[in-house]
Amino acid sequence: MRRAAVAAVGALALLSPAACGGADSEADQKDVEVFTWWADGGEKAGLDGLVATFDEQCDYSFVNGAVAGGAGSNAKQVLASRLQQGDAPDTFQAHAGAELSDYIAAGQVEDLSALYEEWGLTEALPSGLIDNLSVDGKIYSVPANIHRANVLWTNKSVLSDAGVTAEPTTMADFLAALETLKAKGVSAPLAIGKDWSQLMLLEAVLISDLGPEGFNGLWNGGTDWNSPDVAKGLENYKQLLSYTNADRDTYDWTDAGKLLMDGKAGFFLMGDWAPSDFEAKGFADFGHVAFPGNGDTFQWLADSFVLPQGAKNPEGTKCWLKTVGSAEGQQAFNIKKGSIPARTDVTATDYPAYQQSAIEAWKTATQVPSCAHGAACSQGAVEAANSAIGKFSSDQDAAGLQKALAAAAALGRN
Ligand code: GAL
Repeated sequence: MRRAAVAAVGALALLSPAACGGADSEADQKDVEVFTWWADGGEKAGLDGLVATFDEQCDYSFVNGAVAGGAGSNAKQVLASRLQQGDAPDTFQAHAGAELSDYIAAGQVEDLSALYEEWGLTEALPSGLIDNLSVDGKIYSVPANIHRANVLWTNKSVLSDAGVTAEPTTMADFLAALETLKAKGVSAPLAIGKDWSQLMLLEAVLISDLGPEGFNGLWNGGTDWNSPDVAKGLENYKQLLSYTNADRDTYDWTDAGKLLMDGKAGFFLMGDWAPSDFEAKGFADFGHVAFPGNGDTFQWLADSFVLPQGAKNPEGTKCWLKTVGSAEGQQAFNIKKGSIPARTDVTATDYPAYQQSAIEAWKTATQVPSCAHGAACSQGAVEAANSAIGKFSSDQDAAGLQKALAAAAALGRN
């Protein structure tokens, strides 16, 4: 009788959704869905590095939930609707700073403070960065890296063929170089992509025109968006935009990067995920310099991972987060991603030359946060700024842009 019942249960189990690979199957319990926008090129290579370490350190299976599109332009919408429907991935990518505060305020992510103690992260990570991951003394995510946003990448051959022999360090040099490239028939002297990439360019111009303190004030209320200095910055930005590819609003950052790789552009303003993408695509003829006029200001952003409320496999997520925070995970990830480790206990010489210089610069430079990548601005502020900058790309109304950005920044103060 008992044996028969057991057999019947066994037969039922074979027919159950679990046995068909449904929600409770053993395979599912091992799965950790990692939601990012790192789907291709250097970004994917970085993620692959992290996954290799996860496979070594954890008895769980990585499930790739990536949604392509630079800066999360598609992923963030998909994620928002999944979170709303109670269908959280096991972990997702979020930027340190105001963007993470949005998820915390919405009660969508769990407090990780106890795990920080257990894993020794409180000592291994810089306290300033931990502050950007915390609200009311609780820490909500594990950072994978620090990226630098304000870097100007160059195509060395395009510049030398046009007779531009030195990389520009001031706005005046930069405009002169762009004019030279244009005169020599370079079709897009300055390559650029859509909305958020344009916001990055504007931010870099404003760092030059207002200085780091004035720039910070734009996001924390200390600098008046309606001032003449900001108006001058917007005019400089407008001038720079006139040297960019006209079809910029249809381009993701990788399309703009391709213009540089193909020799159709001489310059490209982009974060330091760009060189790893160039390398992943076999392009080595590039140089770099801090955006003209930014001096030693390091505009930063940091990718981090969270434990969402309602994650299906919290234990698996914890193993992912432990990997992200570990010295091995950070090395495997950042060597490929182009960023520098968030941990401070690293050996710089383990990294390629670019990251070695960024590790040094991060220690000595003046740090300012990125709005486009959520360090300084809430998601609402970034969306409003992107839409204002997209509108400006076609109507060129600088006064309208100034007003719209003032309103966008006011949304982001938290
Ligand atoms: C940023 C992200 C970077 C990089 C970039 C381009 O928001 O922090 O890691 O992926 O987008 O997609």
